[in-house]
Amino acid sequence: MAERSLLIKNGTVVTATDHYEADVYIVGETVQAIGRNLNVNADEVIDAAGAYLFPGGIDAHTHMELPFMGTFASDTFETGTLAGLHGGTTTIVDFAIQTQGSTLNAALDDWHRKADGHAVGDYAFHLGVTDFNPETRKEIKDIIEKRGVSSFKTFMAYKGALMVDDRQMLGLMEETGRYGGMVTAHCENGDLIDELVSQHRAAGHTEPKYHAICHPEIAETEATGRFIDLAWQGNHPCYVVHLTCEGALNRVREAAKRNQHVNVETCIQYLLLDDSLYEKPGFEGAKWVFSPPLRKPKDQAALWSGITQGLIHHVATDHCPFCMDQKRMGQHDFAKIPNGAPGIENRVELLYSEGVAKGRISLNTFVDLIATRAAKIFGMFPKKGTIAVGSDADIVIFDPQAQHALSVGTQHMKVDYNAYEGWQLQGKVRTVVLRGTVAIDNDLAKIGKGFGQYLARAPYNRPLIGEIAKGAKQPPVYQ
Ligand code: URP
Ligand code: ZN
Ligand code: ZN
Repeated sequence: MAERSLLIKNGTVVTATDHYEADVYIVGETVQAIGRNLNVNADEVIDAAGAYLFPGGIDAHTHMELPFMGTFASDTFETGTLAGLHGGTTTIVDFAIQTQGSTLNAALDDWHRKADGHAVGDYAFHLGVTDFNPETRKEIKDIIEKRGVSSFKTFMAYKGALMVDDRQMLGLMEETGRYGGMVTAHCENGDLIDELVSQHRAAGHTEPKYHAICHPEIAETEATGRFIDLAWQGNHPCYVVHLTCEGALNRVREAAKRNQHVNVETCIQYLLLDDSLYEKPGFEGAKWVFSPPLRKPKDQAALWSGITQGLIHHVATDHCPFCMDQKRMGQHDFAKIPNGAPGIENRVELLYSEGVAKGRISLNTFVDLIATRAAKIFGMFPKKGTIAVGSDADIVIFDPQAQHALSVGTQHMKVDYNAYEGWQLQGKVRTVVLRGTVAIDNDLAKIGKGFGQYLARAPYNRPLIGEIAKGAKQPPVYQ
């Protein structure tokens, strides 16, 4: 049987490098042709006049159904990826987190059980290593080469639960580096945080704002520098997740002076929100209790500069939602508030509105930040992350003229607040195509549970073409 075809006419294709008016012809799951006035017959035609065509968004930092701090993140792979699709994100990279004392493969099996047959959008996994030892070391090679997971997450905070020490970090960098893997890190000094938490608890401080006070900028700056230095020592690639502040960014700048390349992610909330939200009355500040916490306006300014200076490569969400009754586990103790907040549905539209529409970043930088660079770093490009002949037809048809407001009442994320309630946005996702199928059209879902596919990724910074690309020891191809 012939594969179904879809023609998207008259849109403006935007990639990380170009933008031009063209029709996009899709056959089956991939882009077949791009050109002006394509003379083809298609089963379905969409007129995208006046709209941008962006590559489907990639969110490289999500936590669906994460078991954390005595509860679970409230979005499942089904609800979370569907919410992402509504907001223009077609692929996520979620963290399969090892339980200390258990194996890495068990964590991956566990996350596959949660996602396979459930996710609506496409998904891949990073592996969160919480216990690196001689046994888990043996698992690394096959996880990279056979299971399609080439990035490994470490936590330098959450002592006693997720945190690894520097020796484990070094061992993990060494072992993953052998096979083209890369270590990523949540950079905060766990001991400093724990000490501050003890002091504030002893002083009887309970409110949400003490979470931020106990996670100071210096805790992130120190750990970011240490992580980068450990990678430098062994000549390993590295990726800093959710960088939030000027001090940490300056450690990245220092590394650049010695010609070290550091891959850096920030999250949309750190660009747009600041720590004055913790001063809201009552328990409301708990909505923004996550780690690292929101910072000062001077840090937001530093992050925008970091983007324009090419030091920050991806804007993710760290989507890890908890409902307010879950947050209330910490009503009388700020350190018991589950850390995390929702964002997957709003990232693309927020970054367009606050970034492109307000003149802070170009359209091409926007596409790089929401999709292309993450695809390159994490071994998904050019299958994902661009609009090109042969790539997966993951396309967001985006109306730059539409205006709308964000609200919990209209969102699809399974959580009872929106971190940007009432924000007025310029530009809106109109239609989303995932592997050639219309997934979302004018706010209506056209696909459902189980449509999403697992994406086995290539080694760090290598193209994903045909079978998983090999040859990680060759020089990087994208940087
Ligand atoms: O507060 C956060 N960020 N929760 C999710 C886990 C993590 O640290 O990324
Ligand atoms: Zn983190
Ligand atoms: Zn996270």
